[in-house]
Amino acid sequence: MVWAKIQTQSWYNADMKWLWNFQTKSSSVYRILCFLTLLTTACSSSPENQNRQLSEQEEQSIHALAAVSAEEGNSLLEKHCYSCHNPNSDSHDNMLAPPLAGIKYKYQQFYPNRTKFIAQMADFVKQPSSENALMKGPVRKFGLMPKVVLSEEEMLKITAFIYDAELAVPKWFPAHFKEQHGQDWTQ
Ligand code: HEC
Repeated sequence: MVWAKIQTQSWYNADMKWLWNFQTKSSSVYRILCFLTLLTTACSSSPENQNRQLSEQEEQSIHALAAVSAEEGNSLLEKHCYSCHNPNSDSHDNMLAPPLAGIKYKYQQFYPNRTKFIAQMADFVKQPSSENALMKGPVRKFGLMPKVVLSEEEMLKITAFIYDAELAVPKWFPAHFKEQHGQDWTQ
């Protein structure tokens, strides 16, 4: 009788111990998971739309684009983009938005394919959102870019020109780039 009592007690203890271990272990796993989820959602720089599949029509209209002359491309940028992405800004502290050449560098690293680059940049310019921004730092620093109203054709011309052409950069930019990336600025 006494033996049986001890036995049940030790079973009970072992059970409780297992349950306790399970609970503490799983709650720490749970805590780590929560932390990781928080970290990736708060710090992730991947745009939500990065894996968007382009429609055939989109691919075709990008392929069908005629080359944009330097004159036309620069005047489109002047008219629609350079008021904020000013390539003549005289200091890093005075700019309203990052230089387009620097943004182009980031986009090219992320989307080396020309069609994808053009489509993704056009997506953002049509409907800026922090979820789809490739660079989260500037969104925090300058606030989200306002929507720019353009025709589909102008939009594609501008983004294709950004990809194809050598863009003007502010005079402080090459030194800033070297400081950030440890390499000389080239386009
Ligand atoms: C009224 C000011 C303003 C105008 C005009 C403007 N932008 Fe911007 N743009 C910003 C600011 C501010 C940012 C940085 C914050 C952000 O990414 O939203 C930015 C960021 C961007 C980005 C980076 C998005 C990313 O993925 O992180 C692209 C691309 C861009 N602009 C393209 C353009 C193009 C192309 C034009 C012209 C058609 C244009 N912008 C006109 C203010 C402007």
